[in-house]
Amino acid sequence: AGNRTFTMIKPDAFEAGNSGAILKMIEEAGFKIIAMKATRLTPELAGKFYEVHQERPFYKDLCAYMSSGPIIAAILEKDNAVEDFRTLIGATNPANAAEGTIRKIFAKSIEANAVHGSDSDENAAIEGAFYFSQTERVG
Ligand code: CMP
Repeated sequence: AGNRTFTMIKPDAFEAGNSGAILKMIEEAGFKIIAMKATRLTPELAGKFYEVHQERPFYKDLCAYMSSGPIIAAILEKDNAVEDFRTLIGATNPANAAEGTIRKIFAKSIEANAVHGSDSDENAAIEGAFYFSQTERVG
């Protein structure tokens, strides 16, 4: 077993019908799905999830955007999961994302950037626990 990261397919990508294509890229890159659900955040839950960004100028917009429609949340497993997933999704701003990355292909803007990926092992564990109990995980 490898280690884990956490992802969300964001409202822009979900609404556009790109969830399946994104999950296919994720599986083809060698990530195993450990937990997954379609859900919707309230503004309060989005605020809690992105608490670390609460002093940033984009925080309010981000919380409104992330609660604007359904998302998919998932825990993924692979060796070197956090770093390899960030390589697969590309830079936060799709304008700076490498060719062939998920954000380059699917993101609409720096805010509506198709997917989230944890930035550390510690945050991956915190973010996974935000959405999933032990009984909702396959391992
Ligand atoms: P994510 O990786 O989910 O982490 C924080 C999110 O804030 C980011 O993706 C974007 O969706 C959003 N965001 C909006 N504006 C900015 C910005 N200027 N810099 C970083 N993140 C931003």
